[in-house]
Amino acid sequence: MYPEYFNNSLKAVEEAREANIAYEPRRMTAEEKEELLASYHPDYKKSEFSVLKVGANKGESVPHELCELLEANARIKPEEIDLGNVAYDTDVLIIGGGGAGASAAIEADNAGAKAMIVTKLRIGDANTMMAEGGIQAADKPNDSPAIHYLDAFGGGHFAAKPELLAKLVCDAPEAILWLNELGVEFDKAPDGTMITTHGGGTSRKRMHAAKDYSGAEIMRTLRDEVLNRGIPVVDFTAAIELILDENGKAAGAVLMNMETKEIMVARAKTVIIATGGAGRMHYQGFPTSNHYGATADGLVLAYRAGAKLLYADTLQYHPTGAAFPQQIFGALVTEKVRSLGAKLVNRDGSVFMHPLETRDVAAASIIRECSDRNEGVDTGSGKAVWLDTPMIEKIGGEGTIEKRIPAMMRMFASYGIDIRKEPILVYPTLHYQNGGIDINVTGMSSCIENLYVAGEAVGGIHGRNRLMGNSLLDIIVFGRAAGKNAAEKSRDVKLGALTLEHITRFDEERKAAGIVTDAVSPKLLPDYRRKK
Ligand code: FUM
Repeated sequence: MYPEYFNNSLKAVEEAREANIAYEPRRMTAEEKEELLASYHPDYKKSEFSVLKVGANKGESVPHELCELLEANARIKPEEIDLGNVAYDTDVLIIGGGGAGASAAIEADNAGAKAMIVTKLRIGDANTMMAEGGIQAADKPNDSPAIHYLDAFGGGHFAAKPELLAKLVCDAPEAILWLNELGVEFDKAPDGTMITTHGGGTSRKRMHAAKDYSGAEIMRTLRDEVLNRGIPVVDFTAAIELILDENGKAAGAVLMNMETKEIMVARAKTVIIATGGAGRMHYQGFPTSNHYGATADGLVLAYRAGAKLLYADTLQYHPTGAAFPQQIFGALVTEKVRSLGAKLVNRDGSVFMHPLETRDVAAASIIRECSDRNEGVDTGSGKAVWLDTPMIEKIGGEGTIEKRIPAMMRMFASYGIDIRKEPILVYPTLHYQNGGIDINVTGMSSCIENLYVAGEAVGGIHGRNRLMGNSLLDIIVFGRAAGKNAAEKSRDVKLGALTLEHITRFDEERKAAGIVTDAVSPKLLPDYRRKK
């Protein structure tokens, strides 16, 4: 139910609908995109970034909030930790209970290793669970991993590490088969073939989905598999520091019980960081589509231990976060809504961009419409544009919305908005961390031996912008690879004496750089208490 003050704008959108459906907006040229991004994309706002004074990326810019965490105090004093008192001893320690962590655990188990997951919330409390639109794989006759590569490489501004992106796209068809075998209920045609759609920046329809709760369906399946196999999962237990051995190799983690604050030591022959993203950092004050625990913890753990980050200055603002009503501000409105035909229109009902430009371009375009062009709709708490969802029923026929995007329909119906009949208001929301820990193609950190990384904590797979559906794909491809490779590596590992000396070294570096701060990291959970 919209307030009356939207009526004029709603009328304009409705009147323009038939013409807008027929209208095919042109794609922007490369030059137009570059100019748009430089002027309106949040990644290009220099005043929102700080230069790191310490660590492997010293001299590089990252968002202020991330810089504060990377240069913060540790939660522990190394001399107070008894590293001889080992609570957990394992071959492969997996930090994080989302899709990447669960995939890694399954493959480590398949490889015969003793694996365990520690997670600060519960297994499945992760961005994987919140992913909606789908997972890409080039498995149709008109497509190929090479075409998938070209789409993703261009969409990521030609910055992806070629060997990582090549692995992503080449392993994709097998990843879909693996998930299908495990029991993921993908959308299928009556003859059993997978239904696939376009996403922003894709030249072929290769998005496989389970309606618009693809991530939840994948996470449900992976979680069942982990639990059915009896792989140990320690819930509500955060890793707050990595442990290295005397040779500088990863050898475990210091853990903290989230409720009792009890500190424990986990010793491991190999460690996998699968801690996910950073949406709850609310960079530049943006709302987020991320789950409650997305606070960049893995980046902090790895950085303090000496790992290098790649592209930590680039974030993804999903173009269509819910902008009205206030209760769902920032929640994800899946790109699939646009794949099914809905176009973005301004307050006068005019289409102002091609609906399937890449995400960075789409987000910048919406920000321009709502700022300099002053063509946004005033929602009462900011500006937004319309996403004309009733177009979907007109294009695909009655019932398409309920069949293909039921979660969207329900989310808005809870607030009296029937998206089959009325458009919805959207504005960019902080969605994804494009950058992260630098790895090689086996998934191992480029700087710390026996430390593997998978999922959103990795940097470099997608370059400086990610295409829709390549994240659910990377958690499976790189999660599985990290699990398998870490398990195999663990067979030959002879652990040296455990140490936390890297914390002391990092502290000395901070002191020498003149850093004085009360901040502690990893952050673990966002703080929404009102500031006095
Ligand atoms: O729009 C979406 O459904 C999001 C998908 C993704 O980030 O890959």
